[in-house]
Order: sequence, then structure tokens, then C-alpha cells
Amino acid sequence: MLAIETSCDETAVALLICEGTAEAPNIRMIEQALYSQTKEHAPYGGVFPALAKREHAKNIVPLFLQATESVRTPGEISPPLTDARTDMLQEFLKQEGTLAEIFFEHIVPLPRPDIDAIAVTYGPGLEPALWVGLNFAKAISYLWDIPLVPINHMEGHILSVLADGQDSHESKVMSHKIEYPALALLVSGGHTELVHVTAPLSYEKIGQTRDDAVGEAFDKVARLLSLPYPGGPEIGKLAAESRILGETIPDSLIFPRPMIHMDNFDFSYAGLKTSVLYKVRELGDLDDTTKRLIARSFEEAAIDVLIAKTKKALESFEVQILIVGGGVAASGYLRTRLNALMSDFPTVTLRISSRDLSTDNAVMIGIAGYLRFIDDTKKYPPYHGEDLRAHGTLSLA
Ligand code: KG4
Ligand code: ZN
Repeated sequence: MLAIETSCDETAVALLICEGTAEAPNIRMIEQALYSQTKEHAPYGGVFPALAKREHAKNIVPLFLQATESVRTPGEISPPLTDARTDMLQEFLKQEGTLAEIFFEHIVPLPRPDIDAIAVTYGPGLEPALWVGLNFAKAISYLWDIPLVPINHMEGHILSVLADGQDSHESKVMSHKIEYPALALLVSGGHTELVHVTAPLSYEKIGQTRDDAVGEAFDKVARLLSLPYPGGPEIGKLAAESRILGETIPDSLIFPRPMIHMDNFDFSYAGLKTSVLYKVRELGDLDDTTKRLIARSFEEAAIDVLIAKTKKALESFEVQILIVGGGVAASGYLRTRLNALMSDFPTVTLRISSRDLSTDNAVMIGIAGYLRFIDDTKKYPPYHGEDLRAHGTLSLA
């Protein structure tokens, strides 16, 4: 399984060997080539879509070549490239700037790689960014006549817990199982969701953010504190320092916990961010101690709500495991709080995706691709045609 992910600011291509059933998959990672654009976006304090698109288009072919080195068998013959087929490839790539040129120079002359299927993220995410990966995937699946499996990025985050941590130069067995039903807490820069996973590939979204995502709030608050993008790890560092120093948060720096007592599984982070904004404006120049305390107080408010809503969901749905995925799952403080929460639910197992698979990656897309592909191989022809489009607001259920 070859997997491609370009929904936000990571360009990633992974190659996996997949066996087993949906209930007990046996997946080995051969290679993941990933380029994170955070440095390019840092000056903007967030992801700048046109820049993300350009960077994906520039980097996807080198990453593809790196990830597929081991499956480029010289004996494999590509289907003949007629004029009509060349036109079709041009059609797939015409919106992607420099990609078309790079594709014809570096991809078209290659022997057909030994790949059974290609998985690609088609949403949710930034549409210009998604289109690069999707059009590239369409082009290679058409060029080599390989089934194409479109994947919902959020399903990838859920299934990322099937994998162990990875080491990009060592193939690694990933043989965790998911016990169903499960509850998934998905926390990233674009999403904050609670999903009831009733069976393999069956999702029921029970709650989501009504405005900003939790990771987005971390990024915006970091900006208010003049911390670099992405803000989550920076806020986490300052907050941890404050705890180590044994500081006490004064009442004047306590922020609201939006929607924490509401009888639903929804979230709201815009108001919390605004409270921090007003406080920062009120205080003017911030000394290091105040910055640390604000970072910590914000982190605790944001994560209190995640924990309260997850607790409510665990009380309402009888599940075997709690899955936590998405970039914010890398937060050490969230991990500590989740571990503490589990003592209230002794029959539920906590499964947090490993740190390197919490943030966006192609391994999780490949795992989801494999489960979808073996579920119904006939559903996945090469390239699909016009019907398969990038879908920025694609929802799990
Ligand atoms: O899943 P992800 O890589 O991309 C999206 O799909 O959005 O998540 C990125 C988000 C960013 O908002 C980043 O600030 C946040 O995850 N993040 C963290 C931490 N590491 C990354 N938030 C809190 N604590 C962290 N340690
Ligand atoms: Zn993500």
C-alpha cells in the first residue's frame, strides 16, 4: 500500500506491507518520507493555503521517489503512454503548477512500481493542499493502473493507534488491534471531535467544536504570547516549566472553560482564545513569569474541557477502548490528564497514537486505505474520474 497525505502543511508518502483482516490487521511500515512545512508557515503564524499548495507540489515527487525506492522493480512494464494517455495525465496535473513538469521528467520514465493500491487523503483539510496529493495520486494510479482508495483524514487519525511508533529506516511490525466499540477523541489544528466507533469503519460523530479547533486555539494563544508557530508544543513547554517551578495561577489569570457543563459533547474554543486576548491587552508588556502562567492557565482550561467531555462520553457509551489522535495528542499534559481519567473507567483501555503518528503523516492514511481496500476491493478503480474531488469539509459521519 502506498499512501499520500497533503491535507495541511505536511507532505507525506508512506509505503506499507499490509496483511490480515480489518479486526486484526498486520501492518509493516517500509518507509515514510515526510516533509513538514512549519518553517515556511511560521512567519504567517498559521498555515497559508497558497504556500502549502506550492510546497506540496514541489516536494511530493522527491518524497515519492524516496518512499518507493525498494519497490521500483526494473522488470515491471508500464502501460504504453499514448498521446491520449499523456493528455489525460496533463489534465490531472494542470492545476498543480510545477508538479506537471516534475512528473513528466521524473515519474513517467520509471518502471511500474510493485504496489497493489494507493491511498490518498481527499478531505477534510485545505482544499488547495488536498488537491495536490489527490491529483498526484490520480496521475500515478492512472499511469500504472493501480487501484486508488480515497481516505478521510480523520479516519486516519483514529486508525493511527493501530501502529506502533515508527522509525523511518527500519521496517516495523504494527500489530495493535482495535477493540470495538471504541470512542475516539480527535484533537488537531483543524478538528476537535468525539467519535463513537461502533465497528470497523463505522463512525458516529457525537460532538465537535462549534468554532475554533483546540490546536488552533493553542496556535492563536501562542501568537498572542509571541511564541513561534506551531504553538501547541511551545505553550506546553512554558506550562510545564511553570508546574516544575511550583507557581500558583492567580485568580486574575484564570480563564473560562467554555461549554464544560453543557449537556452535550460539543466544544467551543473561540471564547477562550478571546479571553486570553483581552487579558494580554490589559496587561500590556508581559514578563516571563506572566507569560508562563498565561500559557499554563490556558492549557489547563483548554484541556479541562477535553477531559470533561471525554468523561461524559465514556459515561454515556459503553466502549472497550478510548482512542486519542491528532496533533494535540502529543501534549504531555493531555496525556497525563487522560491517564488520570482512566482510573474512573477501569474496563476501558487508553490508546493514544504514538507522538510521531499523532501529527499528520501518511502511515495512518495507508492503514485506513488497507482496511477500506480489503473491505471492498471493487469499490476502488484507478483514478476514479471527475467524481473524486478534494473535499475541505468532509465529515466522518
Ligand atoms: O494533526 P495535526 O498535525 O494537523 C492538523 O490536522 O491540524 O495537528 C497540529 C496541531 C497544531 O495546532 C499544534 O499546535 C498542535 O497540533 N500540537 C500541540 C502539541 N503538538 C502539536 N498542541 C498541544 N500540545 C502539543 N504538544
Ligand atoms: Zn490531522
